[in-house]
Amino acid sequence: MKILLTGGAGYVGSACLRWLLHHGHGPIAYDSLGEGNVAAVPDASNRLIVGDIAESDRLAQVLREQRIEAVMHFAALASVPDSIADPESYYRANVLGTKSVLDAMRTAGVRKILFSSTAATYGFHTEMPLREDSPQLPETPYGTTKLAAEWLIKDYTRAYGLGYTLLRYFNASGADFDGEHGEDRRHESHLIPLIFQVALGRREQLLIFGGDYPTSDGTCVRDYVHTEDLAQAHQLAVESVEPGMGRTYNMGSGTGVTVLEVLRACEEAVGRPIPHEVVGRRPGDPGVLIATPDKIVRELGWSPRYTDIRAIVLTAWKWHQRHPHGYRQGGT
Ligand code: UFG
Repeated sequence: MKILLTGGAGYVGSACLRWLLHHGHGPIAYDSLGEGNVAAVPDASNRLIVGDIAESDRLAQVLREQRIEAVMHFAALASVPDSIADPESYYRANVLGTKSVLDAMRTAGVRKILFSSTAATYGFHTEMPLREDSPQLPETPYGTTKLAAEWLIKDYTRAYGLGYTLLRYFNASGADFDGEHGEDRRHESHLIPLIFQVALGRREQLLIFGGDYPTSDGTCVRDYVHTEDLAQAHQLAVESVEPGMGRTYNMGSGTGVTVLEVLRACEEAVGRPIPHEVVGRRPGDPGVLIATPDKIVRELGWSPRYTDIRAIVLTAWKWHQRHPHGYRQGGT
């Protein structure tokens, strides 16, 4: 299938692109390179189109010229703390950006879309695990803008005959098995890359946000899902989505891990202690987020390979060791 991936040079988007390429599809990345990396896209001169999703007419032209059959819409801003500080950028990128992609698809007659949604659309819940029909009460602009994008997609589907699959990611993590591709952002706020930046001496210590949550060790619990497992889910979803259909799946492992447990797993991978300090809570952080992935397992036959946080962080550590400064300096 000819598939266009907005944000296809980003962390999750490029992992999906590489997976699709190895599984018989024809993926093309459409990426502004604001956060994405050329080196994350194999055969970039043929597979990467540099462009902004805000340019709907240009995107429609690309969809036509490339004879695209389905769109995977990854391009977004995706940091909870940044969204609280700068909601304007988040509404522009995540809501207006999604509208622009949908309008381009209508113009070009492309009727299948997969959308990267998030656990942040659920907000703060006490009952875990979260199911796809758990109430969506987002508490941060990141969550509200992704939920608004879900609504846009649902409304366009009803009116204009699209077909969609919404994939609500929990904590995307890990790197390619061979350590060639991994997580690398210009401004990093995610836990695992920050821990390894400390291990590599690029930062003095890890700040652990909050030690007083009602969890086993007082730190936040998250559900970490490997990017290769996410990529497999995207393949299964795109091969089965049809116009007129709408489906939503949680993308998590079903297992919750505390921040300290992630840190211990990283220390095990590195083979030495990693300096850290527990500080106050970070605004917008729910104490616990765990998915039940039963629906996608049952309906699409998703079978995640990485079910242990130690195996996930080992892949990430391999990437960080090989590319201590990421893709840009000394990277591939
Ligand atoms: N954390 C720290 N110190 C840091 C960075 C993170 O203690 O320096 C903690 C956070 O407080 C949180 C956990 O590590 O408890 C994970 O934080 P990340 O920033 O790595 O990820 P988030 O859980 O905030 O965000 C992730 C995804 C979002 C998704 C969100 C749902 O990146 O896309 O989960 O809340 F929406």
